[in-house]
Amino acid sequence: MSTTPRRVENLQTDKGKVPVYATGIVEQPWDDYSDDDHATWTTLYARQREILHGRASDAFLQAQDAMGMTPDRIPKFSDLNEVLEAATGWTLMGVEGLLPELDFFDHLANRRFPVTWWIRRPDQIDYIEEPDLFHDLFGHVPLLMNPVFGDYMQAYGQGGVKAHGIGADALQNLTRLYWYTVEFGLIREHGALRIYGSGIVSSKGESIHCLDSDAPNRIGFDLERIMRTRYRIDTYQKTYFVIDSFEQLIEATRPDFTPIYARLAEQESIPAGTVLDGDKVYHRGTGEGWATDADT
Ligand code: PHE
Repeated sequence: MSTTPRRVENLQTDKGKVPVYATGIVEQPWDDYSDDDHATWTTLYARQREILHGRASDAFLQAQDAMGMTPDRIPKFSDLNEVLEAATGWTLMGVEGLLPELDFFDHLANRRFPVTWWIRRPDQIDYIEEPDLFHDLFGHVPLLMNPVFGDYMQAYGQGGVKAHGIGADALQNLTRLYWYTVEFGLIREHGALRIYGSGIVSSKGESIHCLDSDAPNRIGFDLERIMRTRYRIDTYQKTYFVIDSFEQLIEATRPDFTPIYARLAEQESIPAGTVLDGDKVYHRGTGEGWATDADT
């Protein structure tokens, strides 16, 4: 059961007034979406599904179908929640945008996934800096239907609350793990590489680039190596990490990270594009087109 948050104020937005709850939670103002908003969803949904056929993990595509998301109009969170709560006990909650870290972790730890309620404008179809409804709903939500991945997300939230109490370096290590799995992860399926990361599945360009381009590295998942690896927020990734299964992900991240954070604090971070001797290399990137300024 989801808890109903306390309504704290009405927020004036360019979509009209929306009710705001504690920690930035808002009710999805579904009736206020314009025809343009629905058309943006339709365009992006149809385009991505076509590109993702044969590229995205079967687990992702099947979960998306099972949820009842369709291209014709922006889904109602309340409809999706009925399916999602029955499947894995996760609940979607509307938010205005990015939340403070600790609030975000706390939601995940309680199987609540914050989804940005507004969708990008028509002129932002190909790229938008902040997460919008399309990225959050199309990209993140389907895999919450998967019991193993759903458990991973909750464990991540619990780990986030803990890392927040340890300090900034621990949080940075944990954020890199999120980045290279939840946002930009690849998975081996049917003997080939497939996409499961939300940042990829919601991007036309990166959905093609991550698998078809020779530029980026594609390297086997290694927990501590990933937690040391810097990343790009402004360009396609220089390196993608490949898991064998969601079970591998949840098993590898089950141990207490406290001693790992202590160990990593003594080590240098790894630039986003570097390949190390011990890496399991599926593809060594050519580095073509890589930005040369510092990674995050
Ligand atoms: N096991 C981790 C810890 O002790 C928590 C975690 C689980 C982090 C899954 C990320 C993903 O901090």
